[in-house]
Amino acid sequence: MTDKKSEDFIADSQFEPLKPSAKFAKSARVNDDMLFREAQNDRLAFWAKMAKNLKWNSKWDRILDDDKPPFYKWFTNGKLNVSENCLDIHINNGLGDKKALIFEGEEGDTQVLTYKQLLKEVCKFSNVLTKLGIGKGDAVTVWMPMIPEAIIAMLACTRIGAIHSVVFGGFSPEALKDRILDSESKMVITADGANRRGKVIPMRNAAEQALEECPSVEKVIIVKRTGTSYKTKPGRDLGWSELMADANDRFEPVNMDAEDPLFILYSSGTTGKPKGILHSTGGYLVGVNTTFRYVFDHQEDDIYWCTADIGWITGHSYIVYGPLSNGSSTFIYEGTPDYPSRDRFWELVEKYKVTVFYTAPTAIRSFMRWGNDHVDKRDLSSLRLLGSVGEPINPEAWLWYHEHIGKGKCPIVDTWWQTETGMIMITPLPGLTPLKPGSASWAFPGIEVDVLDDNGNPTEAGQRGFLVIKSPWPAMLRTLHGDPERFENTYWKQYPGLYFTGDGAWKDKDGYLWIMGRVDDVLNVSGHRIGTMEVESALVEHPAAVEAAVIGKVHEIKGHAITAFVTLKEGYEGSDELVQELKSHVGKKIGAIARPEEIFFTYELPKTRSGKIMRRLLRDIAEQRDLGDVTTLMDPQVVATIKEGYTEK
Ligand code: PRX
Repeated sequence: MTDKKSEDFIADSQFEPLKPSAKFAKSARVNDDMLFREAQNDRLAFWAKMAKNLKWNSKWDRILDDDKPPFYKWFTNGKLNVSENCLDIHINNGLGDKKALIFEGEEGDTQVLTYKQLLKEVCKFSNVLTKLGIGKGDAVTVWMPMIPEAIIAMLACTRIGAIHSVVFGGFSPEALKDRILDSESKMVITADGANRRGKVIPMRNAAEQALEECPSVEKVIIVKRTGTSYKTKPGRDLGWSELMADANDRFEPVNMDAEDPLFILYSSGTTGKPKGILHSTGGYLVGVNTTFRYVFDHQEDDIYWCTADIGWITGHSYIVYGPLSNGSSTFIYEGTPDYPSRDRFWELVEKYKVTVFYTAPTAIRSFMRWGNDHVDKRDLSSLRLLGSVGEPINPEAWLWYHEHIGKGKCPIVDTWWQTETGMIMITPLPGLTPLKPGSASWAFPGIEVDVLDDNGNPTEAGQRGFLVIKSPWPAMLRTLHGDPERFENTYWKQYPGLYFTGDGAWKDKDGYLWIMGRVDDVLNVSGHRIGTMEVESALVEHPAAVEAAVIGKVHEIKGHAITAFVTLKEGYEGSDELVQELKSHVGKKIGAIARPEEIFFTYELPKTRSGKIMRRLLRDIAEQRDLGDVTTLMDPQVVATIKEGYTEK
């Protein structure tokens, strides 16, 4: 790793750390270093204390079982049920009539479910699932728009002990198919269609393309959302409302072991095959329950809005399980921020008096570009706390967010974490941490991280290195579904005994952590993780492409934009039509989020003498930087030619 770039130093030194206001700090859940001290004193005792905030039906006999690293277990032999902790306990505490879920659809239709009502729906759906033969340990794929039924389905799975695998609604049927097959799901829950910017996107018909090749799926449940027609497959397809109409609204939660799998969530890695990240019941819930409470400073009357989709880990941990296990009111919106107009989010903040708002830097950069008028015409005075997640937030976007959305009074929690970590790992605590725009500040209490150099030594302040997690944490992934070897190789081999995050970072002189993004072949496009290999595999499946190299080119809004360098088979000519065709091909294979922004044809790719594609050089070309050392290349002429062609383009 080279030394830190000068911009980083500017970000570091330009701003005085911003202390929380006395008013905010006074009523904040955390306004002193008590939690840090407790965790420092005895990390495991700290997590055990946190675990006591949940309802356990039998207590664990060991907090952490570290007998077989990296296959750690937490709260062994403890028994609990996630849906019971998200619903029943609050009703028993007198919060039955409190709003649990507030929903607004793209067309302005609304639905509010109190804790009592949500429990009834979840129990009804638990009975539906059970009647259809789904039980403990069965996998269920959820491919749905952002509607309450998606959350009801997830919670019902947890109530009966089934393992949900939620697939982002924007993924293509092919990507859905791969995930259904890998998880061996017996059931798929979907909708007839989804509303997207005033148009209807058929989902059930698209799902059929996947289902045709998924023999393990016995039943498909379809929510009627858009009224889109589809041909029912008798015996397999069933309507959500018909099933729910006469379902019993009571269902005893199934007692689950702390280590029973809770869900699988697929995420991109450095190979063409997505990883089925497996989370388990007890530790995960302890992790998200604790971090939600302290990072978002949970207050009883909060209306909390996380803008993520349910198909990503942020949707799992901080729309569903974190907020609901704390008895919060969680708001969900079906649509995008720019439809029907670019003030849609702020209209919703005003209408629902949202108090805590959690979004991604890519969205913030779009809001900035759209101009302040959309923001200024709405009353955002209900907001008291803002959050950011998914990618590094540039100080300029941070400052804009702070000034224009937070009106200078809302702290911003820049939260670093991953699908694998399950819970927020590095973050400010809003009533305590002085904020530096662009830094996620320090590790959460009970979490131990460091930045290491190539030799495994901690870096000096200001020196770049690799971000690692030094000790197990409750919500950590347990393995990769069906591939424990890949789990070990991906995360635990670079620095034996430590978890390798795949991110570069540096610490400043005050111990603040500055995350620089991925150091592996994974891109972060609009806060979503996409593997370069996945896109490359999709490209070379097209008959015209022989070889492809995909890189992330720095992009003003998206963070990274996918740029592909493609060599063509003999007989094919590069043309605008072929560019379009290849882009659509990738969209069809993976989903619109993976469509390359730019495709460039080249007769050869730069490779080392051992045949490894040097993506770094392609990145330098795309971002118009001087090329560094090219002597290790098999044919140094190749980069010169690509550079010439790319610059002229
Ligand atoms: O590179 C980091 C970036 O997102 C990656 C994790 O992606 P994913 O598993 O899809 O989860 C995203 C939502 C938790 C990380 O390896 N990342 C996430 N949050 C931040 C971040 N980079 C910098 N700052 C953050 N706050």
